[in-house]
Amino acid sequence: MVEDAGATVTPFQAKHNLIGGGRSIQLVGLDAEITLPERMASGIAELDRALGGGFVEGSATLIGGDPGIGKSTLLLQAAAKMAIAGLPVAYVSGEEAADQVRLRARRLGLGNAPVMLAAATSVRDILTTLSQATPPALLVIDSIQTMHSDLIEGAPGTVSQVRASAQELIRFAKERGTAVVLVGHVTKDGSIAGPRVLEHMVDTVLSFEGERSHQYRILRAIKNRFGGTDEIGVFAMVAEGLTEIANPSALFLTQREEGVTGTTVFPALEGTRPVLVEIQALVVRLASGATPRRAVVGWDSGRLAMVLAVLEARCGLSFSACEVYLNIAGGYRVQDPAADLAVAAALVSALSERPVPVDAVAFGEIALSGEIRTVAHSALRLKEAGKLGFERALLPPAVTDEKSSLKLTGFRTLGAFVEHMLGK
Ligand SMILES: Nc1ncnc2c1ncn2[C@@H]1O[C@H](COP(=O)(O)OP(=O)(O)OP(=O)(O)O)[C@@H](O)[C@H]1O
Ligand SMILES: [Mg+2]
Repeated sequence: MVEDAGATVTPFQAKHNLIGGGRSIQLVGLDAEITLPERMASGIAELDRALGGGFVEGSATLIGGDPGIGKSTLLLQAAAKMAIAGLPVAYVSGEEAADQVRLRARRLGLGNAPVMLAAATSVRDILTTLSQATPPALLVIDSIQTMHSDLIEGAPGTVSQVRASAQELIRFAKERGTAVVLVGHVTKDGSIAGPRVLEHMVDTVLSFEGERSHQYRILRAIKNRFGGTDEIGVFAMVAEGLTEIANPSALFLTQREEGVTGTTVFPALEGTRPVLVEIQALVVRLASGATPRRAVVGWDSGRLAMVLAVLEARCGLSFSACEVYLNIAGGYRVQDPAADLAVAAALVSALSERPVPVDAVAFGEIALSGEIRTVAHSALRLKEAGKLGFERALLPPAVTDEKSSLKLTGFRTLGAFVEHMLGK
């Protein structure tokens, strides 16, 4: 407690006139009472999972993704489900005419959902209209690049316009308790008007990813002020819109046949969810002294170089006269370091032309010394593998799990693992 405020002014503050003229703010302890904002389920479990449990009232969410990936489809489906559940929901499209949005809704079988729809681009018009009635629980703005604020000069899509429009919409969200969702375009060259400038302004950033030519889509949280960023939502794009994939493992495992060399199944972890993916390697011996290629899809090429180096230096296998190709099936991207051992298994299998047992999964981190290190969430990985019918696991030595239905074979070093693979 400061009894005489004047006595605490330092000479520095006095010189620069930093004290006086302001109003007192309330300073509270960390242990003061908390009121958590309400969450609203979108009715799409995979979206709620990526959001950390649904949309938060009075928050702003940015969803980015390549053109045509399905942003409008996802948000229209969420808006319709929430409207059907009885929440006031507004969908403002600045990109498509109202008829186009209605046509999509009909195609998705959501033509009768009580969504308040508008085609508009003026932020002032949108907010004036929405202020006249009960504010919506969810407001979708598709997209922020088409919005225009008359508070500043400039064409829609420019950085200053995007920032000003977003600022006004976010202020509305905070004042009225509306969950605002902004669609943002991402251009190949990371365009200046892209959602990058917005990422700091919003509470949550979601990225909708996938190959347009592939059917599945992954919704990933990149930033979340109300939850973790390690959960993903998995969808498939079909004629009726986006369908949820509750068990992604089935999606990323291709039809597996006995006796195929160069493939291993890896139980990856995305947040708290295990996802089984197939790792494929192809090793091609070169006749001449040409520089061999190394090509990687879905994994880190630096990490592949490291695993190859450890196989060469610690296990006596030589890949130097071979081209090496590594692919994660289904176009999935693995970021989990536990993939090292599965990659090594695929590489050794491809090189030696001996298949990894079709009923086995492999995981573990490889150290430069050749040691195989324990990774997080072994039990979860084993459980998922067991659920999908796998019977064996090749893993670090320290992993024990009495509950697991799998036969666990631990390896202390990559050398021991390679010997096992080669049947020595
Ligand atoms: N009639 C249709 N039948 C099946 N799928 C369709 C049909 N029309 C569109 N699609 C799918 O929907 C995708 C477009 O989805 P959507 O418009 O939601 O994407 P978006 O991310 O909002 O794109 P944009 O960046 O252009 O706004 C198409 O790429 C296509 O896969
Ligand atoms: Mg769209």
